[in-house]
Amino acid sequence: MRKHLLGAAFVVCVLLLSGGVAAARDFSPGAAGSGDPFFPLAGNGGYDVGNYGLTLAYAPSSNRLTGEAVVTATATQDLSRFDLDLRGFAVARVLVDGQAATFARDGQELVITPPAGLVSGSQFTVTVDYAGKPSVVTDPDRSIEGWVPTKDGAFVVGEPQGSPAWYPVNDSPRDKATYDFAVSVPRGLTVMANGVLLSHATAAGKTTWRWRESDPMASFLATATIGRFDLTQHSVDGIPAYVAVDPQFTKRQVLSKLPAAIRFYASIYGPYPFTAVGAIVDKAPGVGYSLETQTKPVFAYMPDEATLVHELAHQWYGDSVTLAQWPDIWLHEGFATWSEWIWSEHEGKASAHQIFTRLYDTPAGNTAFWNPPPGDPGTPVHLFDGTIYERGGMTLQALREKVGDPAFFKIMRDWAQQNRFGTVTTPELIALAERDSGMDLGAFFQVWLYQPGKPTTW
Ligand code: TRP
Ligand code: ZN
Repeated sequence: MRKHLLGAAFVVCVLLLSGGVAAARDFSPGAAGSGDPFFPLAGNGGYDVGNYGLTLAYAPSSNRLTGEAVVTATATQDLSRFDLDLRGFAVARVLVDGQAATFARDGQELVITPPAGLVSGSQFTVTVDYAGKPSVVTDPDRSIEGWVPTKDGAFVVGEPQGSPAWYPVNDSPRDKATYDFAVSVPRGLTVMANGVLLSHATAAGKTTWRWRESDPMASFLATATIGRFDLTQHSVDGIPAYVAVDPQFTKRQVLSKLPAAIRFYASIYGPYPFTAVGAIVDKAPGVGYSLETQTKPVFAYMPDEATLVHELAHQWYGDSVTLAQWPDIWLHEGFATWSEWIWSEHEGKASAHQIFTRLYDTPAGNTAFWNPPPGDPGTPVHLFDGTIYERGGMTLQALREKVGDPAFFKIMRDWAQQNRFGTVTTPELIALAERDSGMDLGAFFQVWLYQPGKPTTW
């Protein structure tokens, strides 16, 4: 608040000194959405979040979540008003820089009007107190996400639009932030969130788990998955590793592959990006997929080896290097799928070339296999179609065979390292591939990413 008064005083001085030439500040509302082609209302305009401090309490027996979110942000315009995304809940109170703010609900928007305008460039904090039953979000492809209750807790995933089901957020992949979690649950349950475990302490029958994600994270990658878990802690080359397994799974052999997979990907893509690794193996029967939640992917069942390494590879492609807009989803899924193949090749099983060849045998008449082309899902209904994964992975293998291994592996590594913690677009990848290979690849990518039907020449 003091900062803003100083800012206002500064403007007045400039006005006086310059004889009124400088324009008066013009405070206006931040946009209600960030304009994503698939999810136009997700995210908001006018500010950039630096950190989320989430203090939550969850009662599985009543499915009630009580939360206080402290969002630290910087205004990117002179703001009279701004939104956070939040689905459901009763909001008891909103403070901006400790002062009561007025607020209203409008669909997934929590519309906040601070007592005074926020000057562009200034940092501010928003405190939101909320409570209620968190929601399960159904996506255009009919899959579910958000806060999904399980037998012993909740499976918490947010891709592509589930995070507002459990905290107030600028739900755009372009606005990465750090996170502090303090989540209280009945004693005996474990909370698995992103980053490193700071502490867990029990008082009056409740255990509070504190986690910290100190690297920038896209909102869809946040989790606070709760359940009865066997939690083991070790480390992979000095990086703390947390593996949580629902006790009902007794066959856990596949998880022993985690350190080798992390080391292998680090050897080809560059250093592991984050301060923690791990896996959360839960039982969430209604959720058919796993998610690459940052530092610790979460699985709705005991994964097979391909699924495990897929989610680990996403830590480089998807988590550290993140799409700027959802239609570019192949930049996550094509890369993670090709990563499954190179792992198989590395293990002396089927090579990526062999897997490509087998898939390429799919007849052109099987249009569901070949369409939509991975660079253009068309609508969010097709965001996670098989073609995004398989033809996306094939695009990379075809690139490998076109430019040769040295240029290809340089592209993969440069992409991960030059865009670490960033957000990216497909044209940026094409430009990098052309730079690293010295080849004109416009036609190649046009055929593989954007042209419907089975590619024949490239
Ligand atoms: N990104 C997940 C993966 O690693 C899959 C996923 C997330 C998904 N959300 C989804 C799949 C919704 C289908 C529907 O593959
Ligand atoms: Zn994936």
